[in-house]
Amino acid sequence: MYVLLHAPFIFANDLSNPIFASMSTPTSAPNFWKEIPRPAFILAPMEDVTDTAFRELVLKISNPKMLHVLFTEFTSVEGMAHPVGRKKVTERLIVSQEERELLQKSGVKLVAQIWGKTPEHFKSAAEYICSEYDFDGIDINMGCPVKNVVKNGCCSALIGTPELAKEIVLATKEGSSIPVSVKTRTGLKEHVTEKWMETLISVNPAALTLHARTQKMQSEKPAEWGEIAKAVAVRNHLAPHIPFYGNGDVFSVQKGLDYTQTYGVDGVMIGRGIFQDPWFFNEQVHTPDESERMKTLLDHVRIFERNWNDQKNFNILKRFFKIYVRDFNGASTLRAQLMETRNPGDVYRLLSAYTS
Ligand SMILES: Cc1cc2nc3c(=O)[nH]c(=O)nc-3n(C[C@H](O)[C@H](O)[C@H](O)COP(=O)(O)O)c2cc1C
Repeated sequence: MYVLLHAPFIFANDLSNPIFASMSTPTSAPNFWKEIPRPAFILAPMEDVTDTAFRELVLKISNPKMLHVLFTEFTSVEGMAHPVGRKKVTERLIVSQEERELLQKSGVKLVAQIWGKTPEHFKSAAEYICSEYDFDGIDINMGCPVKNVVKNGCCSALIGTPELAKEIVLATKEGSSIPVSVKTRTGLKEHVTEKWMETLISVNPAALTLHARTQKMQSEKPAEWGEIAKAVAVRNHLAPHIPFYGNGDVFSVQKGLDYTQTYGVDGVMIGRGIFQDPWFFNEQVHTPDESERMKTLLDHVRIFERNWNDQKNFNILKRFFKIYVRDFNGASTLRAQLMETRNPGDVYRLLSAYTS
């Protein structure tokens, strides 16, 4: 059992307070979240999207001035606690040599995201991640609204069990030598933004990212950034030292810059914006021609093949075909043909005209 602090209020930035000092992360690594530029631009963790292959591609076509943090897909601490399950779930934590080199060259940070419901498993997962990998941080998923996950008391369900949520953050920090952050939503059925932020701030995470929707809103209704403004006010009052990021419906760099100004966040996290524009993280809006689009698609497939070979379902790539194959004559026919492909070889044959 982890010692929980029942201090409802922490006074702003009072790091000399012995209560606060005892809650600080037992890290040896500095909190990189405090060192990255403001406003920070962050690519959101996305299941079946942000694996090492896609991250490598994004690093290649982004400007490191406009991309500061990447996340893995969410990885189950319950799976990691089982020797058999661990091998499968930790596929999500693979970082290729090629990605590692790009991270080092660009200075972009990489965070491992974990989820589950058992504090002991969070602690052992954090210990394992810190001893076996080279991530810059660990993030706890308290936002995923998927039914099965939530029914099991994980992810966004933790908003409804705040004592357990706090215990999980403390347990993860206890096992971690790198910064531990939290990504979450504004509530379950209703926004409970301010109370929930107070709860999380009371265990002093290294950073917070708030997706401006409740669990019930899934990703359908528009994000409510007014809730983010409320959360920022709580952060400013109780713990201005905690970097705070907003997430939800940021579909351009300009919107990210505007929202940073308007809502007082330290940066923005972008999820589906990358599906509309893989070149999102650049200073100017980039409008690639057909040839560049197809070459990038081919590069993506080659990186996927190099990393995963037959290990991962090829169909995962089809989501990306729609992203690249658009805005030129014949795009819809080609897209339909790509949807029929069954392996990288089929794609290379279909796009052979672009490989010269
Ligand atoms: C395909 C997909 C997979 C996602 N997987 C995760 C995940 O593994 N962990 C997580 O915290 N959020 C996940 N999310 C939520 C996003 O990180 C983000 O919070 C959400 O899409 C809202 O941001 P947006 O409006 O910019 O898309 C996922 C979203 C999508 C669309």
